[in-house]
Amino acid sequence: MKKEMKKEELFNSVFLLQPSRPILCTTINEDGTDHISTFSWINPVSYKPPRVALALLNKPKKQKSLENIERTGEFGVNIPDMSMIEKMVECSYSTKFGENKFERSCFTRLPSVYIKPPCIEEGMASMECKVLDMIDTGDHTLIIADIIYARYNEEAYSPNLLIKIPKFRPVIHLQNFNLEKSQVHVFLSSDSTETVEVPYPTKKE
Ligand SMILES: Cc1cc2nc3c(=O)[nH]c(=O)nc-3n(C[C@H](O)[C@H](O)[C@H](O)COP(=O)(O)O)c2cc1C
Repeated sequence: MKKEMKKEELFNSVFLLQPSRPILCTTINEDGTDHISTFSWINPVSYKPPRVALALLNKPKKQKSLENIERTGEFGVNIPDMSMIEKMVECSYSTKFGENKFERSCFTRLPSVYIKPPCIEEGMASMECKVLDMIDTGDHTLIIADIIYARYNEEAYSPNLLIKIPKFRPVIHLQNFNLEKSQVHVFLSSDSTETVEVPYPTKKE
């Protein structure tokens, strides 16, 4: 039996596409400091030349990362491992004025080669991206960007870029639920047999 979605709940149909593979996006703030946030809506959109598209919320409030990317035209894409899921959810908190998410999450800065935002040392791979185009797609802005530089952890990928399990356990994000003042993010466990819930906020408020 197929269950039809009612017109008034059709907006939820996008979640039928879950799970997703979230990344950590690094950008530069207006004051020159660095910033990290967690985003799932990212996809390759061209092979030669290599390009990705990243969708960031623009309404009712623009993501800080989107403001940073609009202003600077560049960002880093960092591929996490399951060992990083708590920090990833922490990187999705909105920060207080002056708070730095690199300091808060204790990720290590990996200097980038061609862009200003640093990448993340703990990531399994990182890509340096330059914006090609931006399209307002509704309540998100689709950022289409060239990958101008990439590097990966040789212990995590084979030479033909096959993930080396168990050294690299990919993050599979199933869903998130909004609670009254908080959120719970649900991931697939490393052995794919159960779900792992990461509440937000978990610590430090
Ligand atoms: C696993 C996960 C995936 C997320 N994916 C997205 C996404 O694709 N697009 C988006 O706009 N926000 C997404 N978010 C929410 C942002 O991380 C959150 O709104 C964050 O505060 C944005 O940070 P910024 O305003 O500092 O850029 C995701 C959060 C988590 C934990």
